[in-house]
Amino acid sequence: MSGSKQRLHLNKRPTRILLLVSFVTLFLIVAYVYIPRSSSAGCFFFSTSSCGATFFQNALLSSPSRELTDAEVASEAVIREILRTPPVQSKNHKIAFMFLTPGSLPFEKLWDRFFYGHEDKFTVYVHASKEKPTHVSPYFVGRDIHSEKLAWGKFSMVEAEKRLLANALFDPDNQHFVLLSDSCIPVHNFEYVYNYLIFSDVSFIDCFVDPGPHGNGRYSEHMLPEVKEEDFRKGSQWFSMKRQHAIIVMADSLYHKKFEVYCKPNMEGRNCYSDEHYLQTFFHLKDPGGIANWSGTHVDWSEGKWHPKAYRSQDVTFELLKNITSIDESTYVTSDAERTVMTRPCIWNGVKRPCYLFARKFYPETLEKLIYLFSS
Ligand SMILES: *[C@@H]1O[C@H](CO)[C@@H](O)[C@H](O)[C@H]1NC(C)=O
Ligand SMILES: *[C@@H]1O[C@H](CO)[C@@H](O)[C@H](O)[C@H]1NC(C)=O
Repeated sequence: MSGSKQRLHLNKRPTRILLLVSFVTLFLIVAYVYIPRSSSAGCFFFSTSSCGATFFQNALLSSPSRELTDAEVASEAVIREILRTPPVQSKNHKIAFMFLTPGSLPFEKLWDRFFYGHEDKFTVYVHASKEKPTHVSPYFVGRDIHSEKLAWGKFSMVEAEKRLLANALFDPDNQHFVLLSDSCIPVHNFEYVYNYLIFSDVSFIDCFVDPGPHGNGRYSEHMLPEVKEEDFRKGSQWFSMKRQHAIIVMADSLYHKKFEVYCKPNMEGRNCYSDEHYLQTFFHLKDPGGIANWSGTHVDWSEGKWHPKAYRSQDVTFELLKNITSIDESTYVTSDAERTVMTRPCIWNGVKRPCYLFARKFYPETLEKLIYLFSS
């Protein structure tokens, strides 16, 4: 019995070997034909360490046309890790209100009314770039962070934004980070703003393609290979972002450097303003589905001037505020000859809702009127 079994086994062996050899051959042929040469087919079989890295880069990252630099792979690894690890959940979610201002804040009294009664739900940070502010609201006293001088349109603006984010990240309760200017006002009450931001699944970062001179016209090929022209984005500086996003902004030095060096005013005959392109392009590249593509701060560009409309006392009416709070579509106008108007509905967690929580720009003279309208 045992002898015949042995023979049977021996008889089957050549067939098995033959099958295995044909399978391996077929596999090698298929692999040779189907794995593109550029993605280092050889790496699949001859695993050296540098070769392995290339294979994994191409398999994992969405840029098969080009081999990524070491810095890009490192950046991608860190950012992906942060994005898939939800931040430590604190028991008490707060919103960080980060004010970027030259000096005293003309609307502190209005913000004081806005914050009143919600003391455990927010923290205030003030970056005053010109002179030490005089605070009139207890919510702002002692909230000035270390600041540096900044110039309109220069990279120092982005550095100030990052300084605010870094300071606000120290408080683990801060889950959403809002950047505001001295001419910004709230257009909803605190509960509305809090729920809108804390329960949103995205960050409110304005981001769109502008093929015109004030968009792609500011792009420089020096930003290659990391930033291609087709990935260059534009948007308002006034963002609000979730904690994970604030951390990836802190973690970034690669794109930061690119924009610091190649996106600045008066460079090679063009003016590039990093505060309108760096974070917009960065989020488009790193987490496009994680941003709303509009800013939560309303601004009126309809006059078509270099600066947006700034509201005077006589402009501030109940109707104006009602108009701003009822807008539920975001609109962009490209800066090319076509001046294409793009309109998109504001979708909040799958539901169409009003787009704006804050508005600018308001002259200080509007304070009393705003306080009156706010309380009614
Ligand atoms: C924002 O725009 C990008 C395209 O640039 C898109 O992939 C993303 O889904 C948009 N975000 C939302 C929340 O719709
Ligand atoms: C409010 O919106 C209406 C309708 O779009 C417009 O006719 C009116 O002029 C707006 N009022 C203000 C004060 O902006």
